[in-house]
This record gives sequence, C-alpha cells and structure tokens, in this order.
Amino acid sequence: MKKLVILISGRGSNMEAIVKACSAEGWPAEVAAVISNRPDAGGLQFAAERGIATAIVDHKAYASRDAFDAELARVIDGFAPDLVVLAGFMRILTPAFTARYARRMLNIHPSLLPAFTGLHTHERAIEMGCKVAGVTVHFVTAELDHGAIVVQAAVPVLPGDDAKALAARVLTAEHRIYPQSVRWFVEGALVWDGEVVRHRDGGPQHLFLS
Ligand code: GAR
Repeated sequence: MKKLVILISGRGSNMEAIVKACSAEGWPAEVAAVISNRPDAGGLQFAAERGIATAIVDHKAYASRDAFDAELARVIDGFAPDLVVLAGFMRILTPAFTARYARRMLNIHPSLLPAFTGLHTHERAIEMGCKVAGVTVHFVTAELDHGAIVVQAAVPVLPGDDAKALAARVLTAEHRIYPQSVRWFVEGALVWDGEVVRHRDGGPQHLFLS
C-alpha cells in the first residue's frame, strides 16, 4: 500500500477527487493525511469526515520560508508518504523542500505549461486571446511550475468566456487528470526517460475536452 499526503490551501476539490477515486477504484494506496497551510481551508472538513488525518501548518506562524518548510516537512514525514500531492497548495517552496521530495511530489497547475506559470492563468490566457487553455500535472522542482509533465488536458477558450467560466471548464479536466496521474504513480506506471516522464505502456498523457 502506497501512502499519500495531500497538501491544500482552500476548497480542496482536487483532493476530494483523488480521495474518492482512490477508494472507488481500489488503488494500491491510501490517503494518510491532508495538510493545509490555512486553518480555514474548506477541504479540511471533507477529509476529516472521511476519517482522514488532518493537520494545519499555518505559514503565518513562521518568520521565514525556511522555517515554514522545515516544519511542513516534519509534519509530512510523520506520515511517511510515498507521494506528496500538491492540490491547490498556494505556497512557493524552498529548494531544500523540493529536493527532499524530488520525483515524489506532484503539482497541478491550471495552464498548459510552460505557458502561464504563476498566478491568474485564466485571466492571462483570455487577455492573450488564447483559443485553447488547459491544465498540467507535473513533478515539482525548485523552479516554480516547472518539472516533468505527467498529463496535460486542453479545453477550448470560448467567445465571451471570463476567467470564472474558463476556470470552471478547466476544473472539470483537473478532476480527471489529477486522479489519473496519482493512480499511475502509485501503480508504478510512470517511468523516467532522462528528465521526461512517460507512461510505461504508452498510456495517453493528454486529454482534449471540447
Ligand atoms: C485548482 O484550479 C488548481 O489547479 C489551482 O488552484 C485550484 C485549487 O482548487 N492551483 C494553482 O493555481 C497552483 N499554482 P481546489 O482547491 O478546488 O483543488
């Protein structure tokens, strides 16, 4: 049984999708804990109701990123996870932290990386006149929103879209590709080819939603 620790900062809908898929599809994995940097993160309640351990490491209580990341790592390591899953975890992480979980920490970012790293991805895609937007699941490295891509999903940007409408369309795709990616990890289906990640059997690492 592989152990997962999921980090959230808010609503936690991706965390919820992963928790549900893990039990419904009988993955060889269990969600050992859900950890938030915000005490008021909505997703904590869902996790607690499911009997999953929860923890809060409030970034406001730490004087530096180093101090926060050290405490976060201490709490994470208490659950001995095989994989750390960042699911709407809105903190910039130190190189020491990302190195500690190299090749065993995933993130989901709401753009087709390497386009639109950082914040306000949907606003920026609309402003640029993009016709296609999307979401990327990737391994985490020291460089923000970089690292080997596991799966990407593309959705259309439709005339009249505002950021809210586009975000909702992208979120539907998020809830499909993040559970899929985590499942592949726990099943050992992801293989490294240099700095690139492939599915062992050539499983499709893309999704197009119209
Ligand atoms: C998701 O859209 C996720 O892609 C994004 O935050 C949202 C969290 O929603 N993540 C980032 O922007 C990371 N840079 P959720 O809490 O409902 O899963």
